[in-house]
Amino acid sequence: MGILFSVCGFWKNTESDDILEIQYSFAERKGIVKMRKVILDCDPGHDDAFAIMLAAQHFDLLGVTTVGGNGTLENVTRNALVVLEQIGKTDIPVFPGHAGPSTHELVTAPNVHGNSGLDGPVVSPPRRKPEKKHAVDFIVDTVMNNDDVTLIATGPLTNIAAALNREPEISKKASGLYIMGGGAYAGNWTAAAEFNIWVDAEAAYKVFHSGIDLHMVGVNLTRQCPVDSAFIDRLRGIGNHTGEFCAQLCDFFSKGGDAHLHDACAVAWLIDPSLIESAYLHVDIELNGLLTRGMTVTDLRFLQTTKPDADIDLTSTARWDDPEEGSPFRGKAPNTHVAFRLDYEGFCKLLTKTIANYP
Ligand code: BDR
Ligand code: CA
Repeated sequence: MGILFSVCGFWKNTESDDILEIQYSFAERKGIVKMRKVILDCDPGHDDAFAIMLAAQHFDLLGVTTVGGNGTLENVTRNALVVLEQIGKTDIPVFPGHAGPSTHELVTAPNVHGNSGLDGPVVSPPRRKPEKKHAVDFIVDTVMNNDDVTLIATGPLTNIAAALNREPEISKKASGLYIMGGGAYAGNWTAAAEFNIWVDAEAAYKVFHSGIDLHMVGVNLTRQCPVDSAFIDRLRGIGNHTGEFCAQLCDFFSKGGDAHLHDACAVAWLIDPSLIESAYLHVDIELNGLLTRGMTVTDLRFLQTTKPDADIDLTSTARWDDPEEGSPFRGKAPNTHVAFRLDYEGFCKLLTKTIANYP
């Protein structure tokens, strides 16, 4: 019989995944193991929809909070309710947050996600209403009244920064923050900046300087997670309602070509840390660059190698503060776990298995 272990909602079996899943759900029902408590802050968004599906099944998802980003707050909140309804998770509350950055106008992404923010599948409007409580109040109260809540953010960091401004203790009380945003020397909205960070760079600056245990899934990683026709066939092949819903989302999302399932990667990392290789590095946010505003400036100096074919060495034992290991220019103290390599096949298996468990 396999060995059961689960501290983060992920389980592995030395012999059979299926047997272990049965063991896991039995143990969970009996209260022997507890799922990780999570709040997902998002702006659905096609790839946010997949983030919701993963989080709703693998964690004790205390709430989904929404933020203006891919679409207006009204649209992304409706989309969050739609996704939860499609997968039958109508017990998970949705809390609307900030409509946009406090320092400037919101820029949305209808070019990527359509006018609704979730174009593609034709679905009825959600039956449920969002909660009255503001997302920031929900985040602050929930984190401060529990010992072990992990935050995931897959949109602009407006709500998270507001929560940190309101209650700085969140940076210590939360069990960490996983974000989809930025990139180690990679951008998508501009040559230097990724959309979520670029939309509210001031909020990102607050978060990266807060001291919270931060995991960053940037576009350097998510480029390894393509939404191509093989991937869409796989979703459709699951054969259930949710698989078809997902395939229709991806039909639209991939129509411009070069689509990636960015946000789902951040959730997958927390579910199964073995899916992503990372390095602990210093990351700061560029606020003033003429060409580089919103860039996540990632200090790779102590991982740079002399190998001509490799940019950085993830297996390096070099330390940022140890000049004996090489060049005296070792860089700044790390503040962020930066994702570099994705096990795409492992990710696809996790996702398809998750979708198969929905109606
Ligand atoms: C990010 O921007 C949004 O369009 C996606 O939902 C994702 O969070 C990728 O840059
Ligand atoms: Ca998003």
